[in-house]
Amino acid sequence: MRYLMNHKLTYTSFLLILLMTGNSIAQMGRLGMPPLTGKPEDLVSNSTRILESGPKTRIVSEDGRLKAVVEFETTRPMPAAYIHYGPYFHDQKTPVPAYRHSAKENLTASSTRHSVTFDLTSLLEPINDPGGAMKKLNGGTVCYRLVIPESDGANQYIFDKRFEFRQDRIVVCITEGPWIDVFSAQEVVISWETVRPSEGKVVLDGKTYTSALNKHHEVKISGLTGERHSYSVSATADSVTVSSRIYEFRTPGKSGKFRFAAMSDSRAGYGGFTSNFNGTNLAILRSLFLDAKSNGAEFIIFAGDMINGHTTDERDYLAQMDAFKCSIEPVGHSVPIYEGIGNHDFVIDYWKDPRSNYGVRMDKVFGNSTETLFAECFVNPDNDFPKPEQPEAPSYRETAYYFDWDNTRFISVNSNYWWAGYAEDIGGNIEGFVFNNQYEWFRNLLDKTTADPAIRHIFVFTHEPPFPCSGHLHDAMWYNGGDLNFNKNIDGMPLDRTHILKSRDRLWTAISQNEKVRAVIVGDEHNYARVRIDSKTPVYPNGRPNPRFKNPIWELISGGAGAPYYGQSDKKIPWEKSIVKFSSQEHFLIIEVNQGDVDLYVHSANGDIIEAVRIVENGKSTEKPIPARSIGDK
Ligand SMILES: [Fe+2]
Ligand SMILES: [Fe+2]
Repeated sequence: MRYLMNHKLTYTSFLLILLMTGNSIAQMGRLGMPPLTGKPEDLVSNSTRILESGPKTRIVSEDGRLKAVVEFETTRPMPAAYIHYGPYFHDQKTPVPAYRHSAKENLTASSTRHSVTFDLTSLLEPINDPGGAMKKLNGGTVCYRLVIPESDGANQYIFDKRFEFRQDRIVVCITEGPWIDVFSAQEVVISWETVRPSEGKVVLDGKTYTSALNKHHEVKISGLTGERHSYSVSATADSVTVSSRIYEFRTPGKSGKFRFAAMSDSRAGYGGFTSNFNGTNLAILRSLFLDAKSNGAEFIIFAGDMINGHTTDERDYLAQMDAFKCSIEPVGHSVPIYEGIGNHDFVIDYWKDPRSNYGVRMDKVFGNSTETLFAECFVNPDNDFPKPEQPEAPSYRETAYYFDWDNTRFISVNSNYWWAGYAEDIGGNIEGFVFNNQYEWFRNLLDKTTADPAIRHIFVFTHEPPFPCSGHLHDAMWYNGGDLNFNKNIDGMPLDRTHILKSRDRLWTAISQNEKVRAVIVGDEHNYARVRIDSKTPVYPNGRPNPRFKNPIWELISGGAGAPYYGQSDKKIPWEKSIVKFSSQEHFLIIEVNQGDVDLYVHSANGDIIEAVRIVENGKSTEKPIPARSIGDK
């Protein structure tokens, strides 16, 4: 903090404008410059991590019965924990845990050291072992839910884990995945993790690929032909080999007809239990993913805010991301998922500062950046991404990318790059601002697509809405119109943020002047909204339109994957009349491309269809109600 104070500049000196060429935007103050950090020894932790070590499992034999002992340490003294346990059903294509029994820890006073014991022998009895799958192996995969209650009962920390055993021995276990990620019609990546280093093997369409001794495995496979594929993975350690089941997946076809799902904002919600599953909302998220799969989604786009995040602790961040991945894993075995960064998916550094109640927070400097950890957590296309904005700035790798599916290109824009609170004072970036390098990359990509006869449509996805409509009028890409009366710098002084509108405008101009962009899919707002923006839509505080927004484009806000819902704002929004449909329900989108047409089905978490509408016909934006049918598999 002291270091920060030394660098405290006067407000007027923040208004130093860096003049840039071409379509560049003059940037305010330190925006886009390396952040002025405090000292590492003055960092403040806000970690919510509860597991210090483990859980680790061993097997003991007692009175002729096998028992599993799950041991772990907590970061602070916690009361007795519970475990619910069982197998995975052998006959599920989309395996989810089948809990069958429970056990309570034998512990009288709160402690940081924990050990829960439960009976394994009973899992081999016919009543608990459908199909005799465990009996046949004399072991198998045991899944368990570890519940660590808060002493006042207000909250529980919940972890879904698994281990593998044979006879009386713990053996290697595939603890995460396998995941399928599709980069193109010919190229996929299969990834998984094992509890300890193992040698890996993938069998895909009858061909075998190997992966060297490691805990983390990523196998890139090229040269695929056809649209339907199957694969399995196996792990070998200490002369024992365990295998995943066989999963089926699709790669892009050429028929001009396919469907995909999109959603975002699954950070922890209300309702207790698995509504707050270590920072994510397992209860809603998993049911939406399962529903998207059963509605024939060939892939799923998730545009950010997976977790509560904003944590100073890298282990906390990774544990929250594990919770997100655990929630969607049953679907991720066979449906590729493309992720983007939201404004909650940050690992940060944090210093107290007398000038602000929030202190000074920014994308982690003393450790791994958000972008680095995000790229480690997920597998996304990494063949083409923007250059970093500064030599000190993070890489865009796997956060800004594109892929093609059949006749359509999907572009992920990272609208939460290199975040810092008070970026105009501190450096780094504010939420929603798109810097020059990423903009140039994006516009070039759009231009290249124009000349590509194989691509008929483009969808852009990003977390921050260019045109918010409820809880995010004060940020996103709007910041109350950038008005200095509604924006403050770190000293509480009025701050002109019209640069955010310039950034939004150049992005939307590029989008609307390209003849192939159909919709921009965003999150952040915890609701569904369909917003039509064209050259006559009022988009400024004074109600004026932007005539450069040439083609009408749909903004589809879909932030309803489990985060606390938002109602529509009663504040005046210039584009209010362009919000054609709004719903606060938890939901996901199914978008069906059929040659030149695009149909949109908005599915609520309770199985209703919020709306069904054709949004593009023969390559032109339209709005026609269509039957709200269940669309099933193609
Ligand atoms: Fe957000
Ligand atoms: Fe959110």
